[in-house]
Amino acid sequence: MSEADPDFFTDPRVIQDPRGYFDHMRSQCPVMRERYQNSMMVTGYDAVMEVLNRRDDVYSSAVNVLGPVQGLPFEPEGSDIRDQLEARRHEMAWSDHLACYDGQRHAVHRQLMTDLLTFKRLKANEQYLYALVDRLLDDLLPRRKFNAAREYAHATATFAISDILGIPMEDRWDLVELLGAPPSQLDGEATHRVGPDPLIFLKERFDGYLRDRLETPQADLMTELLNSKYRDGTSPSFDQFSLLARFMFGAGQDTTSRVIAMAIRVLGDDRTLQALLRAEPGRIPDFIEEVLRLEAPVKVNYRLAVEDTQLAGQDIPAGTVLTVGLMAASTDPAHFPEPDRIDLDRPNKRDHLGFSKGVHGCLGAPLARMEIRVALERLLARTRDIRISEEHHGPPEARRYVYEPTYTFRSLAELHVELDPA
Ligand code: HEM
Repeated sequence: MSEADPDFFTDPRVIQDPRGYFDHMRSQCPVMRERYQNSMMVTGYDAVMEVLNRRDDVYSSAVNVLGPVQGLPFEPEGSDIRDQLEARRHEMAWSDHLACYDGQRHAVHRQLMTDLLTFKRLKANEQYLYALVDRLLDDLLPRRKFNAAREYAHATATFAISDILGIPMEDRWDLVELLGAPPSQLDGEATHRVGPDPLIFLKERFDGYLRDRLETPQADLMTELLNSKYRDGTSPSFDQFSLLARFMFGAGQDTTSRVIAMAIRVLGDDRTLQALLRAEPGRIPDFIEEVLRLEAPVKVNYRLAVEDTQLAGQDIPAGTVLTVGLMAASTDPAHFPEPDRIDLDRPNKRDHLGFSKGVHGCLGAPLARMEIRVALERLLARTRDIRISEEHHGPPEARRYVYEPTYTFRSLAELHVELDPA
């Protein structure tokens, strides 16, 4: 580690330019200890894949959302900390949610969710989305100027996941308002002192939706969720159903919204590419993969080594947190030549880690891809030109984009565009 390494977790320069940070770290070593949180920073494609694909539960996901910053609730002792972790993991942030489960507990709950996201459900959601996006555009296009991050991307993604779950129509705008910007992760300790369930603010609502469905079943995902059973025929508890529904809502909302906004930013900055996609909408899916590779909303996730192990020749003692550079891997030049270039013909573009991979890999990826495609398809079809607002973001040679202050996510705070309707 070097004195010159910026602090990944607090330095505003890293928020602004995460790829610059990852390149800097990777050029020293694809697996190296960073000196601020003492985690192992994993930035090489092969090393990241090794962590994500390791099947023997050497790497726990107990720290998956907040990483090393929250600290462990115990002092790791010895070469195997599994018992210590099991005794205290309920005290850790997000421990109630799927992303932080391990082993069998993770597998059985993930299966419940996978069973619900059927092709038929996706197709129905796609029809809803085309109508929704056109309604949003009917309102936005006559204005010719708007904040595409909030008024288009955020609204589309919130409505889409609400529709999949079956949230009542009259509550959807309410949720768009309620779920504003993510909380800052840079404002000191307060933001890390969250309990095991940071989605608690949605609990009352979702408990209510589920209770309504117990009384009056409906043709929607939440009703089906309540009828789900584990493979051994037993049923999850009501609280478990509520946790899963809330997590799916949270996981599916802001991530997708961030990619839609980022894709519009890229198109506003590259009008040639914009014109090409308008002329050839069939290439939009290739473009989406490249945006997910370069600018995916989840920059890193985290794992905890529960026994002494090795990674890329480095010793990893039990109790070490790994900061797993998903974005770093997706821009590793050893795997993606000319990584900073959007290349619609890149042969291995689906290798990116925007959705992560392995047992925890995103299970909403097909839904997210569809949502982003519909949002871009309709926006391009209904405009002749989309420009980035110079008033808000400066001229092309000196753009100013502000990103949300979070080390885990990549998220434009706002995106002001001007456009000419078709
Ligand atoms: C572009 C949008 C999205 C991106 C970039 C994204 C990305 C991710 C990433 C990086 C993970 C973590 C995987 C890991 O820890 O290794 C994840 C997990 C997850 N995502 Fe997504 N996601 C998106 C949209 C969605 C949507 C729409 C849904 C809703 C259906 C969803 C549901 C989930 C769930 C349930 C998990 C937890 C999986 C597990 O722990 O087994 N995601 N996602």
